Amino acid sequence: MRTSFFDFLLVCLVLFGVAGICHAGELRKNFYEDSCPQAEEVIKNIIWKHVASNSALPAKFLRMHFHDCFVRGCDASLLLNSTANNKAEKEAVPNLSVSGFDVIDEVKAHLEKTCPGTVSCADIVALAARDSVSFQFQKSIWEVLTGRRDGSISRQSEALANIPSPFSSFTTLKSNFSSKGLTVHDLVVLSGAHTIGVGHCNFFSNRLYNFTGKGDSDPSLNSKYATFLKTKCRSLLDNTTTVAMDPESSLSFDTSYFVNLKEQKGMFQSDAALLTNKGASNIVDEMLISGKFFTEFAQSMKRMGAIGVLTGNSGEIRRKCGVVNS
Ligand code: HEM
Ligand SMILES: *[C@@H]1O[C@H](CO)[C@@H](O)[C@H](O)[C@H]1NC(C)=O
Ligand SMILES: *[C@@H]1O[C@H](CO)[C@@H](O)[C@H](O)[C@H]1NC(C)=O
Ligand SMILES: *[C@@H]1O[C@H](CO)[C@@H](O)[C@H](O)[C@H]1NC(C)=O
Ligand SMILES: *[C@@H]1O[C@H](CO)[C@@H](O)[C@H](O)[C@H]1NC(C)=O
Ligand SMILES: *[C@@H]1O[C@H](CO)[C@@H](O)[C@H](O)[C@H]1NC(C)=O
Repeated sequence: MRTSFFDFLLVCLVLFGVAGICHAGELRKNFYEDSCPQAEEVIKNIIWKHVASNSALPAKFLRMHFHDCFVRGCDASLLLNSTANNKAEKEAVPNLSVSGFDVIDEVKAHLEKTCPGTVSCADIVALAARDSVSFQFQKSIWEVLTGRRDGSISRQSEALANIPSPFSSFTTLKSNFSSKGLTVHDLVVLSGAHTIGVGHCNFFSNRLYNFTGKGDSDPSLNSKYATFLKTKCRSLLDNTTTVAMDPESSLSFDTSYFVNLKEQKGMFQSDAALLTNKGASNIVDEMLISGKFFTEFAQSMKRMGAIGVLTGNSGEIRRKCGVVNS
């Protein structure tokens, strides 16, 4: 018979008397195999059903997982709604997508019926990111360890303070990733996520219209691409139009982010910044080697998915992802 977490804890308690000595709090493969064996399958099926009719969703979920992990660790704090006296992280991320949150709620409601109080919202977010992106391949393209638990605090101010800005330089990005325990390698590899999805004009239109305050454009931006972007973003004030970050294949998870980047067609300053450092730029080249990006992305996602996780007895398993248990 396999040893369950509780057997393990019991042995720990008997031997050492304190749970703190026992490092039961690691993420692991298939955490729910005994407590809710169908969990991962249920999540995948619901996510795939939605992605089949909404091809924008993979980008929403991938970004959702990134934002969740960078603020208070991967604890689903991003899913919490604001309350009368607290503005939640959500409020700092306009258009992270209503559809994304709705789908997570649907998954959660389903799991609460079959395995009440068992599967964390934080794990659902991590799996939704993997499964939505994987739909295109009809198989999982990275492994997700599970066993995360949910946090109870969500503050708009913390999202603003922890989510890297698209106007960042390389040194800023390096420092922002390093403060989460991630390397320059992770920074470059994970930026490859910008092979899917869209960006709002106001995050890059300074590069088109007024880069140094003289009505100029960013010299590090491909001029043909800049001309194209100007046809989409008609002025510096446009904060509603969105443009595909990888125009030729914005729905396909592939290496084209790095191909574009080399042609100076990265959308944000933070993308272009990766070419301003020799080490980072070498990693960009490496990602163009066949198959490299996929294996490296899987590794870096594992590290990102482990940032500040609550495990063991920390946190809780929320019953509804939008509110803490009462
Ligand atoms: C390196 C620092 C990063 C910066 C500065 C950054 C910035 C941004 C910005 C400004 C947008 C556009 C949002 C909008 O206009 O609605 C965006 C979109 C996106 N980001 Fe990043 N990002 C970074 C890293 C990441 C990472 C690590 C991931 C995931 C692993 C990621 C995944 C995405 C995705 C998938 C989208 C498209 C979202 C959509 O289509 O709605 N980004 N990012
Ligand atoms: C968010 O999306 C909605 C619907 O697509 C749009 O009307 C609204 O302007 C967007 N908000 C922002 C801040 O981009
Ligand atoms: C990123 O790093 C810079 C430089 O260390 C720092 O000033 C900034 O606050 C950081 N931003 C985020 C979002 O972590
Ligand atoms: C461009 O930037 C300069 C300096 O910040 C500012 O004075 C000018 O008004 C800007 N131009 C436009 C069109 O916003
Ligand atoms: C977009 O710009 C308009 C007018 O400049 C402003 O009223 C609105 O608050 C802005 N929306 C966002 C989400 O920044
Ligand atoms: C959170 O807010 C959204 C949108 O305002 C709402 O649809 C959802 O039901 C709320 N969730 C909870 C658990 O209250």
